[in-house]
Amino acid sequence: MSSENSSSSDDEVLQLSAATMGALMEFYKEQQEREDRMKEIEEGNIPETFEENWKMSQFWYHEDTAMELARECLRLAGNDGSIACVSAPTLYRALKKLEHNCTVKVFEYDTRFAVYKDDFVFYDYKNPLAVSRELREQFDVVVADPPYLSEECLTKTAVTVKFVMKEDARIILCTGHVMEDLVNRLLGVSKCQFEIKHENNLSNPFVCYANYNLDEHCKT
Ligand SMILES: C[S@@+](CC[C@H](N)C(=O)[O-])C[C@H]1O[C@@H](n2cnc3c(N)ncnc32)[C@H](O)[C@@H]1O
Repeated sequence: MSSENSSSSDDEVLQLSAATMGALMEFYKEQQEREDRMKEIEEGNIPETFEENWKMSQFWYHEDTAMELARECLRLAGNDGSIACVSAPTLYRALKKLEHNCTVKVFEYDTRFAVYKDDFVFYDYKNPLAVSRELREQFDVVVADPPYLSEECLTKTAVTVKFVMKEDARIILCTGHVMEDLVNRLLGVSKCQFEIKHENNLSNPFVCYANYNLDEHCKT
């Protein structure tokens, strides 16, 4: 009995070791990739794209959507206004492709976007006011695309939006259709016809909301 027991427990130890080994190899692979990326960035090569990480609820805009939103932000902000991309790094990237003198910040939890140096603001929606006081009431345009379809996430994101926006700022919020009542109550935004497209099709109906008539200017 004792030998039977010890062999089955040995198997368990071996199995665990294989799993641990797998996890370790994965960790080293990711670490190597991170180091390679950092080296490239230090050499001045900022990656054109970042892979979606679904664990962080990352669903990138289709290029057409990102560019249309970027042009709209610039129209609203004027030549040297200020734009906050809250959990919307693809919009930030699109804005960087266009000519302007605006200040643009990307508020993000994913530290890969620290490659954007001073434009990167580390941001966790769970601590909505844990951003620099200097960013208070600084932005003419705030675009937010919260990671989760939950009341908690949306309410906390709205706290950050209100903290960083100027009094008369334009707000664009992209989120699921199911959040419509709440977004309206929290931020005074209404549903737009403009269609948000993603690189990978999303199963949830997704909507763009704004506190002004965005449809006059954005074409799907
Ligand atoms: C639904 S995606 C929106 C991305 C947008 N569609 C784009 O293309 O730029 C949600 C974003 O929230 C970010 N995110 C994930 N966890 C977060 C957290 N705890 N706090 C703030 N942002 C977070 C993700 O990295 C991702 O950029």
